[in-house]
Amino acid sequence: MLQRRHWLAAVLAAGYAPELLAQGFASSAPELLPLLGLDGEGLDAADTVIEGRLPAGLRGRYFRNGPGLMQRAGQRYRHWFDGDGLVQSWTLADGRASHRARFVQTEKFRAEQQAGRFLLPAFGTAIRAERPVRGPDSVNVANTSVLPMGGRLYALWEGGSAHELDPVTLETRGLKVWSEDLRGMPFSAHPKVEPDGTVWNFGSANGRLVVYQLNAAGAVVRHALLDVRAPAMLHDFAVSQRFLVFLLAPITMDMAAVRNGTAMLDAMHWTGEQPTRVLVVDKADFSRTRVLEMPACNVFHFGNAWDDGRKLRVDYVQSVALPELNLALNQVMRGERSNRDGSTPRVLEIDLQAGRLSVAARDESVEFPVVDPRFVARRHRHVWYPMATDIGDRWGFNGLMRLDIETGARERFSFGAGTVVEEHVLVPKPGSSREGEGWLVGMGYDIARRRSFLSVFDALRLANGPLARAWLPYAVPYGFHGKFHPA
Ligand SMILES: [Fe+2]
Repeated sequence: MLQRRHWLAAVLAAGYAPELLAQGFASSAPELLPLLGLDGEGLDAADTVIEGRLPAGLRGRYFRNGPGLMQRAGQRYRHWFDGDGLVQSWTLADGRASHRARFVQTEKFRAEQQAGRFLLPAFGTAIRAERPVRGPDSVNVANTSVLPMGGRLYALWEGGSAHELDPVTLETRGLKVWSEDLRGMPFSAHPKVEPDGTVWNFGSANGRLVVYQLNAAGAVVRHALLDVRAPAMLHDFAVSQRFLVFLLAPITMDMAAVRNGTAMLDAMHWTGEQPTRVLVVDKADFSRTRVLEMPACNVFHFGNAWDDGRKLRVDYVQSVALPELNLALNQVMRGERSNRDGSTPRVLEIDLQAGRLSVAARDESVEFPVVDPRFVARRHRHVWYPMATDIGDRWGFNGLMRLDIETGARERFSFGAGTVVEEHVLVPKPGSSREGEGWLVGMGYDIARRRSFLSVFDALRLANGPLARAWLPYAVPYGFHGKFHPA
């Protein structure tokens, strides 16, 4: 029933392993154990132990992606973003839940799996290339998110092409080419899917920014190279009724350093005395753009945006500045506790006629915002986040929050200090239409039990606690992002 090919589980069954300490992973932070990673094999649990009761209407597949392999031959990645993509699927039906995880068979992964050591540079770790780097896809790790679209499934990475996977077996089918003239162009890990299935996305590389519009079947409707200088790192964007909105942070890249073997991340420079540029692109005509400025801020993730033609409102999570963030992620990859990441909710309001903007700031410690998929690019009120509550400087989140961005009202649930909570997504209840009517579905890790779980909440009644948890017989490396595909 269960194939135990799980390196981490085997290590944990034996207790703390001295050889892991020898590889520089401190044992003082048990919540960081899922960052050890797997050895390149997948995971399967045909059945899971259900605590509580899974809602009968919750049917479909919940896909997730994240960095799953962190070390080879005694060499460990320095940064969480480096690990090779491990795609997971939870199949939910009839009150049961099964789990599967497979590594995306990227060109890099296959070569390194065969060699038994790292052969190519990673985003945050300088590794001398022992194979030709012909372009971004030579180092594509496909580790950031997933996109179920038109009956197909894609594993996404910010800097390169999407990889297509079999949605049932999770076997890798290969690199996706949207059209010949777009071959090899980056397709970011944060596409936005409108309720009618229209998909918007962007890609940025070498200071250039391309935007895409796809239809629900996954065919490219339009694409354009924008006349704007893109920052060295651009992770996410927001879409409203009329606009695409980008926050272009003041991050530059020292290309000479990269050519000399410096990791891309170390070659990036944060120039906080420069503004963050707010780029607003007309969805109807990609050549109509406008740029406003705001004080420098580092942003990974957006919730949503809406506009009425005159006013544009965007909600996002402001991260700490890049150098501090990377220092913290280097620490956690060594298994050390780090100072708590101070990412907090923001709402940006732009008066399009006056060309003025204002930002409303909050102080909850959150990340990975999600909204009701029926309200993408429409006026929304609710944003859900993993949240840290009363855990001091422990890394990660241990609760969830729903924030009403109209009123500022919030609802929270905490699992307590012994649990790490990952991104949770909103799954609409079949037949419902009210914003938030549905379930909040995501994963977590129980530190004492050393097992990962799926948790399901009533999304408008978070404080009542989970309706159900499906417990895996193993721990899974922490992931970044997921998407639910209803059956
Ligand atoms: Fe992300």
